[in-house]
Amino acid sequence: MRQPGRATIIPVASGKGGVGKSIFAASLAISLARKGEETVAVDLDLGGANLHTYLGLPNTNPGIGDYLKQRLASLGELIVPTTINNLRFLPGDGKTPFMADIPTPQRLQLLDEIQKIPARYVIVDLGAGTSLNTLNFFGLANNGIIITTLDTPALMNALVFLRSFIFANILTLAKENGAIRKTLLDAYRQPANKENLTVERVYDFIARHDAPLAEKIKRRCGYFQPRFVYNMGEEKEDGKVAERMEATLRKNLSMRASALGLITYDPEVRKAVRRNEIFLPAHPESAYARCLNEIVARVRQQA
Ligand SMILES: Nc1ncnc2c1ncn2[C@@H]1O[C@H](COP(=O)(O)OP(=O)(O)O)[C@@H](O)[C@H]1O
Ligand SMILES: [Mg+2]
Repeated sequence: MRQPGRATIIPVASGKGGVGKSIFAASLAISLARKGEETVAVDLDLGGANLHTYLGLPNTNPGIGDYLKQRLASLGELIVPTTINNLRFLPGDGKTPFMADIPTPQRLQLLDEIQKIPARYVIVDLGAGTSLNTLNFFGLANNGIIITTLDTPALMNALVFLRSFIFANILTLAKENGAIRKTLLDAYRQPANKENLTVERVYDFIARHDAPLAEKIKRRCGYFQPRFVYNMGEEKEDGKVAERMEATLRKNLSMRASALGLITYDPEVRKAVRRNEIFLPAHPESAYARCLNEIVARVRQQA
């Protein structure tokens, strides 16, 4: 789905924090770079930027935070080299704690600049949660990656993330019809009850008032096909959980998701993180690296 001359952008989101998103984003970027692909890793976890640690870099470079505070003219000049061939890094916020929300014009400018980064792959580490920033950044690609552990809270948060993502997109696309937009906002605000507000029901509702708008929204939202990575799992649980997630997403969000693969729990990861090692180059034969390799092969096939 890449435009000619542009990078394949891969946003990595999670819903829940602490599920291994940043080390996955870093390892994915490192692996692609080691396979000869020009790659830029971008830290868009603006509240908790720490991708640099997984890339073995100090937290001293100016980053997107400084760009947003308008200390710098263009995003490109913030990209720094790493110790890994073919891999460069765009820091999130180098020094100061980040101010919470980015105003929409700045957010759009940021999205535009990220799409112009010259590389083959741009891997974007996003913040946990469902802030509008994160939801917007996830839309940088139609097939962004959601990483989750196999624990119920993480799976639930991944679903909540995608639900917020699709509802936010529907709202944006419905902006031309103020009455529909208002009714949708009211409906979204209702407490969740037995009668789940599915995306199908939302489409039906819009179609009753404005059939062409419903068709347009359906088509645009049908374009999103998120890809799942299941982390810290055990081989045998994988298939069933993935099937259940995909069925739930189809039923509740009319969304076609797929699984990129499972990464097993690997005690070497934590040890390496504590030693401040860059995990992948230090442990190329580890269980984590083997799982990652299969995922990277699929990512390249699908790019
Ligand atoms: N497959 C794994 N096996 C063991 N530990 C892991 C694995 N994936 C991640 N971790 C550990 O989980 C912790 C959180 O990872 P991190 O990438 O910082 O999470 P997030 O970005 O989702 O908050 C790190 O200490 C990391 O070493
Ligand atoms: Mg993180």
